[in-house]
Amino acid sequence: MSNSATKSAIVTGASGGIGSAIAKRLAKDGFSVVVNYAGKPAPAQAVIAEIKAAGGQGIAVQANVENAEDVQRLFKESMDAFGRPDVVVHCAGIMPLFPIASGDVAAFDKVIETNLRGTFLVFAQAAQHVLEGGRIMAFSSSVLAKSFPTYGAYIASKAGVEGLVHVLANELRGRNITVNAVAPGQVQTELFLKGKSDARIDELKKMNPLERLGQPEDMANVVSFLAGPEGGWINSQVVRPNGGFVY
Ligand SMILES: NC(=O)c1ccc[n+]([C@@H]2O[C@H](COP(=O)([O-])OP(=O)(O)OC[C@H]3O[C@@H](n4cnc5c(N)ncnc54)[C@H](OP(=O)(O)O)[C@@H]3O)[C@@H](O)[C@H]2O)c1
Repeated sequence: MSNSATKSAIVTGASGGIGSAIAKRLAKDGFSVVVNYAGKPAPAQAVIAEIKAAGGQGIAVQANVENAEDVQRLFKESMDAFGRPDVVVHCAGIMPLFPIASGDVAAFDKVIETNLRGTFLVFAQAAQHVLEGGRIMAFSSSVLAKSFPTYGAYIASKAGVEGLVHVLANELRGRNITVNAVAPGQVQTELFLKGKSDARIDELKKMNPLERLGQPEDMANVVSFLAGPEGGWINSQVVRPNGGFVY
């Protein structure tokens, strides 16, 4: 971790359901937090207001993770404000669902650009700038193990994310930086709920033996652990906070 008084963390997709909970939790843990968003400034500003009201520090930075220049600027603005990051949590992602038979290559390319190319670009900057002793995380999904119909593009993109995690962990040998994937099960956010009937949501909820949906705070607990002093021996892993969904 850095020697500066305050550690800093960059969270992509931090205006969304899971990312906003992570940003608030890391701020509570003592990090200065960069709240990245793509298109909607209001939710990002609301996260910053909450962080500041609780006595924390943060800034909101717009950047599209699909775009190399945007991602470079995200890191530059973060470092101008708080110095080199101790922690990068790459949470931005999308989940449009469509069958492979649709042949919808535009939708496929969009998922790959946001979820996989976005991870490559964020990892490139993180690899260059994260301080010795730092932590890098990306979001995958437990749904990889289910192969549900219509999840093809999403699952392909997240399988790629997991591949990048293991390679980057090896590439950072010698710098005491961990790289892990967090792969949630169903979490009650816009991304999960969008387009699903109440019956389908209930069915998915009951797929884990705890019979509830994950909450964004359940994911923030895991990220807080991986980012904190006790999470340092976990490296190149896919951590699956999913209530027992899958098995
Ligand atoms: N919810 C679940 O059940 C679940 C399960 C497994 C994995 N995950 C993963 O967890 C992560 C967070 O999901 P969530 O449920 O919190 O989703 P969410 O509530 O829809 O939030 C998505 C976030 O990503 C941002 N984003 C989207 N496209 C972007 C881009 N091109 N550049 C920068 N930011 C972008 C959004 O910003 P704007 O609103 O400004 O576009 C928003 O902040 C995703 O990677 C998702 O795949 C979620």
